[in-house]
Formats: sequence, structure tokens, C-alpha cells
Amino acid sequence: MIIREMTFDDISEVAELERRYSQTPWDATGLLSWWMRDDTLFLVAGEESTEGADGAEAPALEEGAAPAGRPEAAEGTGADGGNGDEAFCESDMEYVPPVVYGYVGLVMVPYESDITNITVSGDCRRQGIATALFQELFRRCPEKGVSVIHLEVRESNAPARALYEKLGFAVDGRRKHYYTEPTEDAILMTRKLRDP
Ligand SMILES: CC(C)(COP(=O)(O)OP(=O)(O)OC[C@H]1O[C@@H](n2cnc3c(N)ncnc32)[C@H](O)[C@@H]1OP(=O)(O)O)[C@@H](O)C(=O)NCCC(=O)NCCS
Repeated sequence: MIIREMTFDDISEVAELERRYSQTPWDATGLLSWWMRDDTLFLVAGEESTEGADGAEAPALEEGAAPAGRPEAAEGTGADGGNGDEAFCESDMEYVPPVVYGYVGLVMVPYESDITNITVSGDCRRQGIATALFQELFRRCPEKGVSVIHLEVRESNAPARALYEKLGFAVDGRRKHYYTEPTEDAILMTRKLRDP
């Protein structure tokens, strides 16, 4: 497994992670439009890419498919991430074995940034995958002029809150009734990478 930038070919699998584990899932179209923006960074934990983004040879795209790369900005949707725990990993052989075990998204307005979503496949949790995704994000942020990362998390999402605390995020606010279905406060957390 490696941590690498999300490619066009990853989007359907990332959308499947969203569908399975997010309470407000982004679909492939929403993911694509965010991924195409210049001000976002998406990393995946997965197998080696066959596409061009990380230096490997790019395969032929199906007719009508968008090209690799990140063209003009486009509008997308928002999400808060879910808290599902269904199995979805190489151990589930009836499902097509995933190339993507988890992913994280970041939208940047340097020197600040916001996590858009972080999800790890149900059977792959507690193996340090989310931690590895964040460590790579922390490593890449300074070169993009980003020194502060913000995020929001459902108050009841204990696994995610424990992850963020372990990674050095500190609570710095609360948004009342920010989430719906069910209605719940958002806990706001921030991590400084270095002084702006
Ligand atoms: C939150 C989530 C991304 C964590 O991914 P992960 O790969 O399992 O996390 P890691 O293995 O890197 O865990 C790192 C630390 O986070 C904390 N943590 C992670 N899952 C936890 C859990 N279920 N209970 C308590 N602490 C947990 C622990 O401190 C853990 O360290 P440890 O395993 O040494 O005790 C994953 O549970 C997930 O995808 N949840 C559904 C989507 C979601 O809620 N996203 C957040 C939206 S704001």
C-alpha cells in the first residue's frame, strides 16, 4: 500500500467508499468536480496508480471519459463524512477487491485549509491508514503555502475525534446544529503546521 495523489481512475472506488461509509456521500460527479479544482488536494491509500499522476504510464481512457489532470475549477458538493463500519476490503472477495483503502480531501485557501472528507474502508481500520494519509498531507501542505488545517466533525463521532486529537488537532469551536439527519453540533478543530 502507498499514499499517493488521487487519480481519475480512483474516483469510482472513492465514490464507493463515500456511498458505503458517509452519512452525506459525495457521488462520482461531485468528487470529480472537486478533484478538478486547483485549490484541492486528494490523497488515497491504495495500490500503485496505473495513471500518469505519479509517474506511471497512463492507460487509454474509455470514450467520453475525462482526461487525467486537473482542468478548470468547477462547483461541487459538501460532506461531513459518515461513521459506517461495513466490511469492504481485500477480505471481502465477493466484492471487487479495492485498489483504494481510504482517502482524504483538502481544500486550500493558503495559508489556511479545510478537510473536506476522510474515510477508510471498514475492514482496513485501526491499521494506521488515516494516520498515514494525514502524515502525507502534513508533509505536502508547506510546499503549497498551507500552514493551518481546519476541520469539523460530528460531536458523536468518537473514532474521528480520537484520530484528530492523536494527530495534534485542537478543539477551537462548535457550530450548533450544523449537521442534519440526525441534527447534531459540529466540533471545530485546527492543527497548525508552522507559523504563516
Ligand atoms: C475515522 C477514521 C477515518 C479512522 O481511520 P483509521 O485508518 O481506522 O485510523 P487510524 O488507524 O490511523 O487510527 C489512528 C488513531 O485514531 C484513533 N481511533 C481510530 N479509530 C478509533 C476508534 N474506532 N475508536 C477509538 N479511537 C480510534 C486511535 O487513537 C488510533 O490509534 P490506535 O489505533 O493506535 O489506538 C475511520 O474510522 C473512518 O473512515 N470512519 C468513517 C468516516 C468518518 O467518520 N470520517 C470522519 C468524518 S469527520
